[in-house]
Amino acid sequence: MKNKTSIQGSWASRWIFILAATGSAVGLGNIWKFPYITGENGGGAFVLVYLACILLVGIPIMMAEVFIGRRARKNPINALTDVAEESEGIKAWGIIGIMGMLSGVLIFSFYSVVGGWVLHYIKIMVTGEMMGISSEDAGAAFSALLGEPITLLGWHTLFSIMTVFVVAAGINKGIETATRIMMPALFVLLFILLGYAMTTGGFTQGWNFMFEFDFSKLTWNSALVALGHSFFTLSLGMGTIMAYGSYMTKDASIGKTVLAIGALDTLVALVAGLAIFPIIFSNGMNPGAGPGLMFISLPVAFGQMPFGQLFGILFFVLIGVAAWTSAISLLEPTVAFLVERFKMKRINAAIALGVVVWGLGIACLGSFNFMSDVTFFGKNTFDFLDYITANIMLPLGGILIALFAGWIVKDKFAQDELQLPAGIYTLWNFSMKFTAPIAVAIVLYFLINPMK
Ligand code: PHE
Ligand code: NA
Repeated sequence: MKNKTSIQGSWASRWIFILAATGSAVGLGNIWKFPYITGENGGGAFVLVYLACILLVGIPIMMAEVFIGRRARKNPINALTDVAEESEGIKAWGIIGIMGMLSGVLIFSFYSVVGGWVLHYIKIMVTGEMMGISSEDAGAAFSALLGEPITLLGWHTLFSIMTVFVVAAGINKGIETATRIMMPALFVLLFILLGYAMTTGGFTQGWNFMFEFDFSKLTWNSALVALGHSFFTLSLGMGTIMAYGSYMTKDASIGKTVLAIGALDTLVALVAGLAIFPIIFSNGMNPGAGPGLMFISLPVAFGQMPFGQLFGILFFVLIGVAAWTSAISLLEPTVAFLVERFKMKRINAAIALGVVVWGLGIACLGSFNFMSDVTFFGKNTFDFLDYITANIMLPLGGILIALFAGWIVKDKFAQDELQLPAGIYTLWNFSMKFTAPIAVAIVLYFLINPMK
């Protein structure tokens, strides 16, 4: 492959890549989605399946995405076609990249709505109107927010503009610096909240809820949700990590780097769960409360703890930043494609894409109010887009990337990028050829043909 660097630029070092990829991985998926889907799927067994998926499917696929991107140093569509050609495969593999761009657009449309909720919560933390609130009132406040399309639209618009702004500015300075300060701060605050959760008296119950593996509660559908979430949380199956990999320097070890990203992402999700569930249980709330879980439990907790308002503001700011860095990464592959393929100026590409995702986002926020009657397969637009992207499109993208990396790419090219010890390479290759595709295929099969 002739390209030494991407025309978009490259990360300053291996650490910057880890930071940027972790910025993409750690987001609403960890702090908002993971706790609520764990609640909806009964806890324990779901968490175990999720961890297995991260280790056996997610991490190996992430390695594949990084090496494909880094080898070609182009946007995902062109990277896939270039790497396919080099191994004498057909160009049609580029279709995975097209599907990925679509996934990114669809995910963004509901992600930005939730990002907007976070911005709204920063505001109400600052005004102090949630201080000392009861769990009933916190629940009512969240429902009330969902019923106000104009408020939601304002925040969704602001979140979209913030995201487009950074994407337009390019991959380097802004986002790198923001992640460098914010990610460590997020960890510190998460552990402070965990410390508070430990004092609530609900900690053992919260811990048991997450780590008591009761397999009678596990259904094929919850296994699908766990698998889908492992893709969502690691930003896999849609080209984000491939695009970020294309800006990575050649000297860094892909294996170690990817392990670090996977470990950090998992740690944040588990700590978020351990911080949120004890608060839920000690206040007699329902762990299966759905998407409002975090927005109801955290204000209650912050309203009771010393310096709660300060911590509350900081915490929602950091969730906002985590969501922001992830949202940026949802748009990056498509913007890179528009720039490289159609020679568009980055700023124009970012704005054009921004307008599209913003428009789709309106249908998502309308799901809770003026468009609540519009359903697809019994789900409102918001839930439907969340469901098909996380549970179908990302796993499908992932399976195809695995098959491509395992069966099409020649070993010598894969190893040239991965540089793994022989035994580990064999394991990785086995995962690409068999484990990952078969796991995804089984779960998708039982989803379509439920066992009675
Ligand atoms: N990984 C992000 C999160 O957990 C979401 C995301 C998915 C970002 C896919 C980019 C691509 O919040
Ligand atoms: Na994540």
